[in-house]
Amino acid sequence: MESLLRPWSEDDLASLVRHANNRRVARNLRDGFPHPYTPVDGSAFLAAVAGDRPALHLAIQVHGEAVGGIGVRPGVDVERVSGEIGFWLGETFWGQGLCTAAVRTFVDYVFDGFALHRLFAMPFLRNLRSQRVLEKAGFRREGILSESAIKEGQLESQALYALTRPEWTERATGVEANAEDRSTTPP
Ligand SMILES: CC(C)(COP(=O)(O)OP(=O)(O)OC[C@H]1O[C@@H](n2cnc3c(N)ncnc32)[C@H](O)[C@@H]1OP(=O)(O)O)[C@@H](O)C(=O)NCCC(=O)NCCS
Repeated sequence: MESLLRPWSEDDLASLVRHANNRRVARNLRDGFPHPYTPVDGSAFLAAVAGDRPALHLAIQVHGEAVGGIGVRPGVDVERVSGEIGFWLGETFWGQGLCTAAVRTFVDYVFDGFALHRLFAMPFLRNLRSQRVLEKAGFRREGILSESAIKEGQLESQALYALTRPEWTERATGVEANAEDRSTTPP
């Protein structure tokens, strides 16, 4: 069976531009994801990510075609234990559970392959779809960052969602993360 995520390849340019060049996608992302999204933008992205191993950015594929993307940006300095994830999907494929599956798979990939302790995401507060995806993938809402960003000239609040490694382990094994500690802790 085809896996949902795979590394980007230079051959993905046409499908990348086809699905990324959509304001309804771009208005929910950082300005680093431009609109309009041109072949020049797509080439620059693919040149930056297509060769990196282990890959921090993966394509979401349907029948071999790259129809979206998901990635992690590791923090630096004291935040080097944390990584911010971001994701998008071509509008044709919205509402089929694809992104939820992609986030779940990507979280496993990152916690298995990278020494990160915490993953987080900061969707715009108005982006209920993305928040639903994060909740379904096991992320907790930690709070709201009021008017913390500006997009297309409008101030935006952001929701902060996170999943720590112990929470992820607990979810995978069904064993409570601190069960051992707690059993030796007096009431
Ligand atoms: C957000 C995005 C990735 C979702 O992808 P998707 O594959 O459609 O998501 P899923 O199908 O896995 O789940 C969507 C969930 O949102 C729900 N949803 C859809 N519209 C909604 C709305 N207006 N309000 C609340 N929930 C909504 C769906 O019902 C579904 O939840 P359910 O399974 O409980 O019914 C996609 O819409 C996208 O690429 N948007 C633009 C970029 C973006 O927002 N990226 C995230 C930045 S943090």
